[in-house]
Amino acid sequence: MESTLYKEAVQFIQEKITIKPKIGLILGSGLGVLTDEMTDCVTIPYETVPHFPRATVEGHAGEWVIGKLSGIDIAVMKGRFHFYEGHHQKQVTFPVRVMKYLGIRNLIVTNAAGGIHPNFSAGDFMLITDHLNLMGTNPLIGPNDDRFGPRFPDMSEVYSLQLRMIAKRAAQDLQIPLQEGVYAAMVGPVYETPAEVRMIATLGGDAVGMSTVPEAIVANHSGLSVLGLSVISNLAAGIQKEKLSHQEVMETAKQVRSNFIQLIKKIVFEIGEKTDENG
Ligand code: HPA
Repeated sequence: MESTLYKEAVQFIQEKITIKPKIGLILGSGLGVLTDEMTDCVTIPYETVPHFPRATVEGHAGEWVIGKLSGIDIAVMKGRFHFYEGHHQKQVTFPVRVMKYLGIRNLIVTNAAGGIHPNFSAGDFMLITDHLNLMGTNPLIGPNDDRFGPRFPDMSEVYSLQLRMIAKRAAQDLQIPLQEGVYAAMVGPVYETPAEVRMIATLGGDAVGMSTVPEAIVANHSGLSVLGLSVISNLAAGIQKEKLSHQEVMETAKQVRSNFIQLIKKIVFEIGEKTDENG
């Protein structure tokens, strides 16, 4: 992807906003309602932004909402691009580099995921501690753009320990239970077979989904601190008796909405305080 493409997208967005957000937030399936809590916001539909792909999934509106959350300047992506939609990994992660150019330093990535760890229940929140990239590809394949990061990026702490501490403290203060675990990314769009779920459990995966990992890889490459949060919308195939459906995913997201909003608002507030101190 040519760097002029990122810059044209960034310039387009910058012309519409007056703030300079340092926090980015990507909202997963059914979680877009969080933007109702924002103030002073500018909404920018993805299809108006130069070089942006189009979001196609129900529950993803496909727009930037840039404004204040908990009084902190933030750029929120309401809806994301998935590999299974047919987008190239470079397109899926295009917005992450746009955020980097916008001045974002901390990226919060959320998703709905299937629970695998035996202690997990539908409706739990899981702080992502690490990931398994089972997509069989990587968004950094191709010539490396040295302006963003190195050819062979270190991946030993993709999900920032410091941001995880902030999230854990926020959850504790709010008395919202917060699980922790490894997120495994599959290509989708099919949900997993029970055998695949057993495979992921054997490999050390605690939850499974179809997003987040490409974005986290590209964010980590360009030096962003990443916080990953999964809503366990269902137990993975073969663990729960019922068949899986997107509707179930959306319904669980709706049920945990108010806790999700509270948790994210507090985390954003705390990260905002931290970046205020450290520039
Ligand atoms: N598998 C993959 N992706 C998902 C799931 C699941 O069980 N639930 C929500 N997203």
